[in-house]
Amino acid sequence: MTMPPLDPAVLTALVRDAGAAPSMHNAQPWRFHYRSDTGTLRLRADLDRAMPTTDPDHRALHIGCGAALFNLRVAAAHAGRRSRVRLLPDDSDPLLLATIDLGDPLPPEGTDMLARLHPAIRQRHTSRRPFTDEDIPAALRDALEDAARAEEARLLFPEQWHSDVLRDLVRDAEGRDGLEPDRLRDVERWTRLGDEADTATEGVPEYAFGPRLREGGAPVRDFAGRRPVADRGAAAFERDPHLALLGTAEDGPSDWLHAGQAMERVLLVATLDGLATSLTSHPLESPDLRGLARDPLSSMGHVQMVLRLGYGPAGPATPRRAVRDILSIA
Ligand SMILES: Cc1cc2nc3c(=O)[nH]c(=O)nc-3n(C[C@H](O)[C@H](O)[C@H](O)COP(=O)(O)O)c2cc1C
Repeated sequence: MTMPPLDPAVLTALVRDAGAAPSMHNAQPWRFHYRSDTGTLRLRADLDRAMPTTDPDHRALHIGCGAALFNLRVAAAHAGRRSRVRLLPDDSDPLLLATIDLGDPLPPEGTDMLARLHPAIRQRHTSRRPFTDEDIPAALRDALEDAARAEEARLLFPEQWHSDVLRDLVRDAEGRDGLEPDRLRDVERWTRLGDEADTATEGVPEYAFGPRLREGGAPVRDFAGRRPVADRGAAAFERDPHLALLGTAEDGPSDWLHAGQAMERVLLVATLDGLATSLTSHPLESPDLRGLARDPLSSMGHVQMVLRLGYGPAGPATPRRAVRDILSIA
């Protein structure tokens, strides 16, 4: 049975949920086009929001768009629609990342799986604040691994030596930024300080930076750098952060889109289960450091993201562009 075209209010709600996804520096590098005659939504990459210095291949851009695609699937399930997704459907148009056919109702047995994640779309925020040292229960780790697997990616909880290596790689990446200030250009373009933080519709606002790291081993990017931020303060972070690596077997645009969907699925499951989360792509922005991030003994081919999970304060909601600026309807 084919359903009628989406009501504009429902379509707006779906795209708003899609746009709540995490993206590198909150650049929101996506656009949506809806065709009422076919009931199909198209997801396009917006290269005006790419990061030329830190993401020249657009890997992170694809991961953010994959996360938006996953939110869209969750929102569609919540609205009783089935999403038939085709990734990269046109070889001659690589910026067309996916088509999503929303014309069919969701079969009853599919309703629970994605729709139950819907509340987490609004609850999930990156938290750059200290977490406690409390362990993540094994059953929850298993559920997070399953979430990644369901999206054709893998989640790996590294052993202690590997966590230590990852933290060293973050420090190496920070050190490179200090030596090559050009690498900070993307961060400077996409951070919002002072009054700008209150009116921004994109970028990382200063109230989401979290405190400076006084002690502890949490790999949290310092978005302020040497710039002063009022009332920021410093704090002790957890000594042994709970890290997880998300990876894929291959390393092309469709793998990055799968990784983005898997990342968001893991984050939403984690959020529903009461975990706070943050992301670290810093060491993955240099090919040599990225290569060192993988465990040579694991079968994970390519690391796509480093996640930090734990019990602690949720991060603040960050701004998003209005739906009218990211959605067109024909
Ligand atoms: C590909 C990618 C890379 C990211 N890298 C980092 C990072 O290195 N450090 C960090 O603190 N957050 C990182 N983030 C999180 C974004 O900064 C965050 O999603 C964005 O600012 C929006 O905030 P929100 O997640 O609270 O909605 C990354 C997100 C994505 C999708």
